[in-house]
Amino acid sequence: MSDSNPYGELMLLSGTGNRELSERIAHEIDLPLAPMDITRFADGEFDVKIHESVRGHDVFLIQPTCPPVSDNLIQLFVTLDALRRASAARITAVIPYYGYERKEKKSAPRDPISAKLMANIIELAGASRVIAVDLHAEAIQGFFDIPVDALTATKILARRVRERHGNSVVVVSPDTGGALRARTLGRILDAPIAIIDKRRPRDDAVEVVHVVGDVAGMHAVIVDDLISTGGTLVSASEALMSKGAIGVDVIVTHGLLTPGALGRLHEAPIEEICITDTIPLNEEARARDNHPKLRVLSVAPLIAEAIVRVHEGRSVSELFR
Ligand code: R5P
Repeated sequence: MSDSNPYGELMLLSGTGNRELSERIAHEIDLPLAPMDITRFADGEFDVKIHESVRGHDVFLIQPTCPPVSDNLIQLFVTLDALRRASAARITAVIPYYGYERKEKKSAPRDPISAKLMANIIELAGASRVIAVDLHAEAIQGFFDIPVDALTATKILARRVRERHGNSVVVVSPDTGGALRARTLGRILDAPIAIIDKRRPRDDAVEVVHVVGDVAGMHAVIVDDLISTGGTLVSASEALMSKGAIGVDVIVTHGLLTPGALGRLHEAPIEEICITDTIPLNEEARARDNHPKLRVLSVAPLIAEAIVRVHEGRSVSELFR
């Protein structure tokens, strides 16, 4: 890396949110993660010690805010604060999964807009920029007053669909909020799209009201940003099969996979569930033998390329042309 860079030398740091992904990114860039310890005081509070000078460096801190969400968020905040106080020239928060993103608007009176609150704190703590992957809603970019590079894993996941089915599929969004995502994948694959009208009678229950579009006689590929309980995908796959689809695959960026989700998905009429490594697999998912449907693709090359481009002041959007 050139010393003439206005933000100094590139430096990578990682919280404990997804250490394996951080190491894969570091390997792609061919630059080791800078030494740092995150410890806890006796009462559970976090402390951070960065063991190398960051003064005048272009620092990228990799930390998804996945479960344990509160711990990972606090780690992100205190490490950003440490970097800012240690005079890093520029600090990019690389947040492969942005926690609290589903609360991006008020759905009922007296609701918080937690995704905006997180953005406020990330900026206040010291981030100069953010790199994120497949934000739940594009509007979240505007919650920040600093630059946000919103990456997408759609192309990586689309490659897998092509490998399995060519372009003879119908791309399905499991709710109206994901229509744009389905349209993008449909365009990449040159495939038609369908949209499911989903309702949530309760936070933990999902009900399919309509399938808009033709799926009969076709292989359906459901595209979504995240799997939490799996309820959305179970209902969507059942609805698609009842409308005459000949099979269902699922591609999803963030595999939150809360306890019980994989069991539920295993029972559903789904042939393959393809996720990425933005979030580390939980123990249930690591016992992969029990989940032959699950396939994990890495976003490390994508994030590594974005980091290098940001550092070198080159276009990131070119990555998605
Ligand atoms: C909803 O808007 C999201 O895009 C996901 O469809 C949803 O959060 C998935 O949650 P679950 O797996 O619990 O149904």
